[in-house]
Amino acid sequence: SDIYGLERRNSQGIDLTDLDALVPLKAEIESAAERNWKTAPIIGGHPTGGEGEALRNPADLRQTVGRVVNATAKDVDTAIARAVRAFPDWAATPAQERAACLERAADLLEAERGAVMALCIREAGKTLMDALAELREAVDFCRYYAARCREDFGKPMLMPGPTGERNQLALHGRGVFACISPWNFPLAIFMGQVTAALAAGNCVIAKPAEQTPLIAGLAVAILHRAGVPGDVLHLLPGDGAAVGAPLVADPRIAGVAFTGSTETARAINRVLAAKDGPIVPLIAETGGQNALIVDSSALPEQVVRDTVVSGFQSAGQRCSALRVLFVQQDIAPKLTEMLAGAMAELKVGDPALLSTDVGPVIDKDAKEMLERHAARMAREGQLIHETKLSADCQLGYFFAPRAYKIDSLARLEREVFGPILHVVAFAGDRLDEVIEAINKTGYGLTLGIHSRIDSKAEYIVNRLRVGNAYVNRNMIGAVVGVQPFGGEGLSGTGPKAGGPRYLHRFATERTLSVDT
Ligand code: NAD
Ligand code: ALA
Repeated sequence: SDIYGLERRNSQGIDLTDLDALVPLKAEIESAAERNWKTAPIIGGHPTGGEGEALRNPADLRQTVGRVVNATAKDVDTAIARAVRAFPDWAATPAQERAACLERAADLLEAERGAVMALCIREAGKTLMDALAELREAVDFCRYYAARCREDFGKPMLMPGPTGERNQLALHGRGVFACISPWNFPLAIFMGQVTAALAAGNCVIAKPAEQTPLIAGLAVAILHRAGVPGDVLHLLPGDGAAVGAPLVADPRIAGVAFTGSTETARAINRVLAAKDGPIVPLIAETGGQNALIVDSSALPEQVVRDTVVSGFQSAGQRCSALRVLFVQQDIAPKLTEMLAGAMAELKVGDPALLSTDVGPVIDKDAKEMLERHAARMAREGQLIHETKLSADCQLGYFFAPRAYKIDSLARLEREVFGPILHVVAFAGDRLDEVIEAINKTGYGLTLGIHSRIDSKAEYIVNRLRVGNAYVNRNMIGAVVGVQPFGGEGLSGTGPKAGGPRYLHRFATERTLSVDT
């Protein structure tokens, strides 16, 4: 059990440096990659028909990964109607049974690791390492929320009864939850939202990102096989305008869990606020403008290592990724030179190879947005380094990792989602201005600090409004149940995913008082 007494353990993962582990894993991934993958709306446990559209591998556009049939307006209506009917029975299902479904799903994900990882690599462009991390996080969410479900929903909390009454407080599902997820953690975040909503006793309509419906289809099939009834969980692939918007606007939706851009969260919030009927909660986990502050006491080698991981792992396509590196002026020339050297060593290319550090970006729009931003930075800043692309990068949506020196954070109006790092030098006596500039962005997701002066790190942590702060380490890869994750301000509403209070927001509280 963990330190809270929960009966669970995080996934132990696979040691990819061990050939005895790597070789069979790669064989499982390769054989699953060749399957004829297809996803369609899954309503009442059954996929609907249709030929669907081809989905291309972002690392090699010649390859079709599979096909997707997108949901129609009628599918949205049918799925919600069936989920509404299924809700009373699912809400009344003992927490133990709901938790057991999630635990069986975790086991199935692990058993089918080849298929899960193959889709993460081929549909989402994840590197082998990232695909493994994705699998582990999804498994951890299932087991952690199962444990929390048992703990928090298993029996009511007894309250004082000073007048002789029995008073108890219990958590209860709200109804039908819409779970809307992004492409950058197509399995982990998809599963995290859905399993939290299910554990709390809700029925779910899951709307995956339009770029990654195949992984979502596999995840929903696994949850159904694990025992979640067909009418309790429905999958509606499709884009935001055609499927997400009508889903959110539907008066039968009792709550929305959304992870994605701040702009979309705002649009959803407006729709929910304008609806008649019950006030619908929105759990929004959104973007960041994440900074790392480095003072002159920091160890340069450690800073460079953690900067490269935080800025460029997952091709910078993590909400937690480092965007702006603030370096104290006196060490800035040395540090930027070392950073350029480290960036030159990065291998950009085929994400299926263990030697690859940086895979493709997700699609044409993402690549074009990054190219536009890089062109602007070339005019307004100074290039520190641009990593070389290998020849096979012509085949897909690759973007060379870049770092630019800029004079001020104020040049960045919004999150730039991809492998572009900005470096700002600051005078040692201007730390307060750095703190003010970061707070002024309005985002509050992750923060890094590299300093060997504890009091300075504490000073910064106490003044910055961020959800996850990391000192003398990298700033990505929060661990479920260990580093609850999520931001504030423009970065989200909370509660923190993978934290002890996440399920509560998916539930409503009911008090029962009985005269004994
Ligand atoms: P996005 O906002 O474009 O899309 C997210 C989801 O919302 C997709 O499923 C999309 O189809 C849907 N959607 C779009 N418009 C909609 C509408 N009007 N109504 C309902 N649904 C709609 O985001 P993205 O590009 O898929 O993901 C990248 C973003 O996600 C980045 O900003 C990143 O920082 C953020 N993110 C945040 C976290 C976190 O935990 N804070 C985690 C991962 C990603
Ligand atoms: N939870 C993910 C991370 O910390 C987004 O990188």
